[in-house]
Amino acid sequence: MGMAVTGPGENRSILDIPEKQTTVIAEFNQITPGNIMKMSYLHPSENTYTFGNADLLVDWANSNGIGVHGHTFIWHSNYQVPGWMQGYSGDFQAMLNEHVTTIASHYAGRVDSWDVANEVIDENNHCWRNSVFYQKAGADFVANAFRAADAADPDADLYYNDYDTEGGNKAKLQCLLQLVDDLVADGVPIDGVGFQMHVQIDWPSTTDIATAFQAIVDRGLKVKVTELDVPVNNPYASTPFPQYTSFTATAASLQKARYASIMQTYLDVVPANLRGGFTIWGLWDGDSWLLDFPERQGASDWPLLFTGPSFGPYAPKPAYDGLVEALSGQ
Ligand code: G3I
Repeated sequence: MGMAVTGPGENRSILDIPEKQTTVIAEFNQITPGNIMKMSYLHPSENTYTFGNADLLVDWANSNGIGVHGHTFIWHSNYQVPGWMQGYSGDFQAMLNEHVTTIASHYAGRVDSWDVANEVIDENNHCWRNSVFYQKAGADFVANAFRAADAADPDADLYYNDYDTEGGNKAKLQCLLQLVDDLVADGVPIDGVGFQMHVQIDWPSTTDIATAFQAIVDRGLKVKVTELDVPVNNPYASTPFPQYTSFTATAASLQKARYASIMQTYLDVVPANLRGGFTIWGLWDGDSWLLDFPERQGASDWPLLFTGPSFGPYAPKPAYDGLVEALSGQ
């Protein structure tokens, strides 16, 4: 069971809030740094790596018996790609290999697994997002990143990670499967697929989620739920599910059922040896990225497992009970 956490340099870092540490240590056995291991944080200029903040977080996890899922060597998003890299005029693939090798080597033995590449698919562009990586290194940048990571840290599990691949978007799922099949056919050392699962309360259906998980299981790869959250107030819902603008008892109970059914689907479809883990994207509702997501225009929401206040103590919500009940077979 994993939890995305804030780290040093961010607001409300887990290292500054003892109650967060207490809850994470009690309830989870892996963390994902939600932000501070991204490209621009670790590699701000060509010849400079700034590992200090991430090292503090990884050391905290290691010394408390908590694993770490690294996130992420390669991600196209805005400022996550450092400016020097966006304008790089040398051998782009060699530079990316060095980036992956240096970070993977630095954390070898201290992390369980990595999101090697994040969100490279665009189902509307022959399956490839037209990122700076794709433009300058071609489609092989993904395979090369896996090879570099595996060479630097052979013991870490290596994942491809994406959103909207969990069954509702059939075209994107097909692109994912094509990417995975190509990597496997080329002998690329991929261990599994991360499904972010920033889902809605009624979408995708658990049948569609099961189909997506099954497709990865059929390929003998691990399935990891990497960034799950379940909002109840989606201002752009395209389905008839009622939109909850306050967290009513009905919303809480529907959310509980949704968390439980996603966990149940995971347990039913993914055999134990292929379960890479199940991670929630934030501890308590006030920490959710969704509250700041511009497309939601400030809509309130309550997508996570715990309630605040900001500095704790954090109280479990019905959604937490839903996960526990599914895990304990009720
Ligand atoms: O820490 C600074 C703070 O000092 C400053 O005052 C404030 C002003 O804007 O910014 C703070 O940094 C923000 C950071 O989150 C805080 O943790 C950044 O602006 C903000 O862009 C950043 O957002 C993160 C986002 O990725 C972009 O990197 C979210 O926390 C993080 O949850 C989100 O996670 C992504 C996954 O990596 C990939 N999948 C989608 C997921 C959700 O977008």
